[in-house]
Amino acid sequence: MEKFLREKKDVALTGNFTKWYDKTSRENRMEELVGYAKKIAVLVQPGAVILEAAPGPGYVAIELAKMGYSVTGMDLSADFIEICKANAARERATVDFVQGNVSSMPFDENKFDFLFCSAAFKNFHDPASALREMYRVLKPGGKGLILDMNKDTTAATRKAAVDKMNLGFFNRLFMAFSFAFILRDGAYRKSDFEAMLAASPFEKWNIEESGISLYVYLYK
Ligand SMILES: C[S@@+](CC[C@H](N)C(=O)[O-])C[C@H]1O[C@@H](n2cnc3c(N)ncnc32)[C@H](O)[C@@H]1O
Repeated sequence: MEKFLREKKDVALTGNFTKWYDKTSRENRMEELVGYAKKIAVLVQPGAVILEAAPGPGYVAIELAKMGYSVTGMDLSADFIEICKANAARERATVDFVQGNVSSMPFDENKFDFLFCSAAFKNFHDPASALREMYRVLKPGGKGLILDMNKDTTAATRKAAVDKMNLGFFNRLFMAFSFAFILRDGAYRKSDFEAMLAASPFEKWNIEESGISLYVYLYK
């Protein structure tokens, strides 16, 4: 289904689903999301200028801002941008949250030291343009990390991922179903990323497989 939607157009998440996603992220995924911010902190210099592309409710961007980085978050969904702003205000964090499409970003070239994008690349209608834009907005010497579901998962790795989220009965069923069918349907394999990157302006990258995820490190 996700692949079917993506092939038609970019899909901004909206309405009640964004509220459910925000609540589930806050209640069940904070350890994971704070972990991403800590991982990024190891990869950047103090004071780095960071873009989170497609941040959803914005928790990684907010965590990075609280660590002292200069952070921008850009999402296609106006509803998520509103949620991001409310979440940042509650945390007293300063993040520049803007609405925009990753395939045509509203930023000058060579602006960011680091770019992060999680659980979203498989949603992009035009992944080739997204990679071209990621390269354009990164500074020379800048780095990126795309984190997304690996199509090559097993039932055991998917179960471990759901277990880690500590969900209630219905959300657990929903996530297990999503991982097995909806999300995996749209996900890429390592070899898909290799092919897309070979056709992109990036000349250097490294892809790691871990659990149900692919970690795609980009170097400009
Ligand atoms: C599943 S959510 C992931 C949110 C967050 N990164 C996370 O890890 O929880 C996917 C996000 O991608 C955004 N999105 C989809 N297509 C986009 C595009 N072309 N440009 C920018 N954001 C996009 C959606 O609005 C949504 O916020």
